[in-house]
Amino acid sequence: MDRKKFLKLAGSSCLAITGIPTLLTGCSSVHRVNAIVRENRLTVSKLEFIEGTEKPRDVVLVREMSLAFPIALYRLSTDDYIALWMECTHQGCEVNAQPHYLVCPCHGSEFDSKGNVVQGPAETNLKTFKISTDHENIVIHL
Ligand code: FES
Repeated sequence: MDRKKFLKLAGSSCLAITGIPTLLTGCSSVHRVNAIVRENRLTVSKLEFIEGTEKPRDVVLVREMSLAFPIALYRLSTDDYIALWMECTHQGCEVNAQPHYLVCPCHGSEFDSKGNVVQGPAETNLKTFKISTDHENIVIHL
């Protein structure tokens, strides 16, 4: 089985076994955070990258009810983050975030953790958002 088929199958399996303890570490490896938009900004505590885990997380999924897609917030280095809109630039499916890349379940496009296309059919990079940080928080400017 090639990598693309495996990823599609794994993504489907994650959806199919909701409520059953998962055997696929990829399903549970992405930490999710609910946030609220205030003044066109989403604020995420830096603790979301470290709490409850032995090593810092590479990515946190930020969901806000009024937004059509979640945002994948990647930690590129100690205090360097990037926020990616999880809408595939090919035909608008929601991409799946993994620790170091994102993959689209619809036609297999892949993006690196900076949102750059690494495999088509998508030809355009994922949308990014301006980020600012302070001592405690990461602020995503919508
Ligand atoms: S919609 Fe994502 S690859 Fe086609």
